[in-house]
Order: sequence, then structure tokens, then C-alpha cells
Amino acid sequence: MQPMTEFDPAPLIPRNARILDSRRVTAKERHFRLALEAPLGHRPGQFVMLSLPGVGEAPISISCGPGDEREVELVIRACGSLTHALHQRQAGDVVGLRGPFGNGFDLQDFEQRDTVIVAGGLGLAPLRSLIEPLAARPRRYGHVTLISGCRTPADELYRDKLRAWAQLPHVDVIRLVNDTAHQPWDGEVGLVTAPIPRLDLEIPNTLAVLCGPPVMYKFVIMALAARGMQNEQIYVDLERRMRCGIGKCGHCQINQVYCCRSGPVFRFDEVATLPEALT
Ligand SMILES: Cc1cc2nc3c(=O)[nH]c(=O)nc-3n(C[C@H](O)[C@H](O)[C@H](O)COP(=O)(O)OP(=O)(O)OC[C@H]3O[C@@H](n4cnc5c(N)ncnc54)[C@H](O)[C@@H]3O)c2cc1C
Ligand code: FES
Repeated sequence: MQPMTEFDPAPLIPRNARILDSRRVTAKERHFRLALEAPLGHRPGQFVMLSLPGVGEAPISISCGPGDEREVELVIRACGSLTHALHQRQAGDVVGLRGPFGNGFDLQDFEQRDTVIVAGGLGLAPLRSLIEPLAARPRRYGHVTLISGCRTPADELYRDKLRAWAQLPHVDVIRLVNDTAHQPWDGEVGLVTAPIPRLDLEIPNTLAVLCGPPVMYKFVIMALAARGMQNEQIYVDLERRMRCGIGKCGHCQINQVYCCRSGPVFRFDEVATLPEALT
């Protein structure tokens, strides 16, 4: 019989995080900045488990780039009991935080490569954690093309950051909405797939990264494949319902893969044959 390995409960115990500020950024989303007891030491694409005692706990993507600060930034959409309760919390209030969890992106993969980043709606929140380091180190990383789409102009996240990234010589930003909804709009109208055929890409040296609503993945991957991109060049950020965040409970399972540990970031060739991966 195998000897029992000792279970380490530490990753399951939330630490206190104090809200430094919380501001409404769209009708459904608020941006939070939290003060931490110690730096997270996260990789882009990782997530934390955020909790309120007596209300619940949920995975939330880390939106800021990696760094040494004792702070973390999150964008939270109010959609259920926990997230609605979090929207009522104010500066000075304390929440519970575990993590960082998940594999995230390995920045070494992006060295001397061009990157196409496709963000749909709230998908821009986790992808900002990757865009920031890529945009900050043009000598280490290559050209970045960011395609950011949302439903209407009022739903656009990080407008100030999108404008600032667009000013950088090594970053192109294409902003789209599905519908202007009669609101002022200075970007394009259409789906995030629309610009892909016209991008000036050196395909063998380019990686693509996608995060957005489930329906988006299949069509973006088809558009990238039509440009000659292989599954090995495409990274997808997949969300599944999670409980423990550390590969113990099975809530996040896609076939034999635990999304909380092996994901949420996957190279597409690793999950392309899993029947439920893109649903
Ligand atoms: C890795 C990861 C990162 C995430 N990052 C963010 C983030 O940065 N910001 C953010 O606002 N949300 C994020 N989410 C989603 C968030 O964790 C869920 O919306 C969470 O359920 C909200 O908790 P709640 O108690 O408020 O709502 P709940 O009461 O749990 O659910 C509200 C509604 O969302 C549905 N739902 C819950 N979880 C999922 C899911 N995984 N897939 C599809 N539908 C679901 C429920 O059926 C219900 O209709 C992330 C999820 C994962 C797995
Ligand atoms: S959330 Fe528990 S195994 Fe992944």
C-alpha cells in the first residue's frame, strides 16, 4: 500500500485583503484594488479565490501584471450572490483571498515572438496581466496586436489603458463593438474575428492568445487557422466552475484535465481533442 502523503491545508486558508478602492467601470463591472499582507508573486493568467465569510467564494482572474507590490487588481462582474455582495463593499472593507492558482502564461514562450491577443468582453481583465509585461519590454518580446471587442461602447473595459497601449510603437490596438447602441464610438463595428484576415503577421513567429465568452473561441481559432496558424501557436484561457482551486475537488474537470491546476491557460493543442473544452 502507498504511504499516505500529508495534506497541506495552507492553500485552502484565506488571507485578509483590504479594499483600497472600488470603482464602477461598466454597468455590471467594478474594478478593485486590494492591499495584501505579502506580494502575490503571480504569473500572468493566474487567478485568486476571493471570498466573503457567510456569502461564498469564487475564482477571479488577476488583472494586473506581475510585480513585487503588495497589491492586486481585479475586475468583478456582478452576476450572483458573492459578486453582488462584493460590489457593495467599499474602501477599507476586508475580503478573503487565496492563491495565486493555476498555471498562467510562461513569459519565456513570448520572448522574441510576435503576439496576437484576442479579448472578448471581460476577457480583457485577465489578458491585461499578460499585455502589461509584453508592452513594457519591447526588446524582449515582439510586436503585440491586441483585438479587443465588446457588445457596446458602454461595455468597454480599460479604455484608458487601450489608448495608452495604442500609443506604443510596438503595439497595435483594434477596438470593436458588436453594436454602437447609438453611443459615441471611435473604434470599429463588428466581431473580433473580422480584423484577423487583414493582419500583417509573420505567421511562423507569431503566437495567439484568446480569452472571452465561450462562443468566441471556435470562430477565432478558425480565423487564425485560415491564416496558417497551428494549434501549438494558440493559447486559450478557459474558465470552469471551481471550488478548491488546487486540484482536489474535481469541480473544474474537463474530461481528465483539472482546469484549476493544468489551466486556466492551455496551449490549444493540449485541449483541442477534449470534447468539452470549448463548450
Ligand atoms: C479561472 C476563472 C477566472 C475568473 N475570473 C473572473 C473575473 O476576473 N471576473 C469575474 O467577474 N468573474 C470571473 N470568473 C467567474 C466567477 O468566478 C463566477 O462568475 C462566480 O460564479 C461568481 O460567483 P457568484 O457567487 O457571484 O455567482 P454564482 O451564484 O456562482 O453564479 C452566477 C451565475 O453565473 C453562472 N456561473 C457561475 N460560474 C460559472 C462558470 N464558471 N461558467 C459559466 N457560468 C458560471 C451561474 O450558473 C449563475 O448563472 C472567473 C472564473 C474562473 C473559473
Ligand atoms: S477546483 Fe477543485 S479540482 Fe479544480
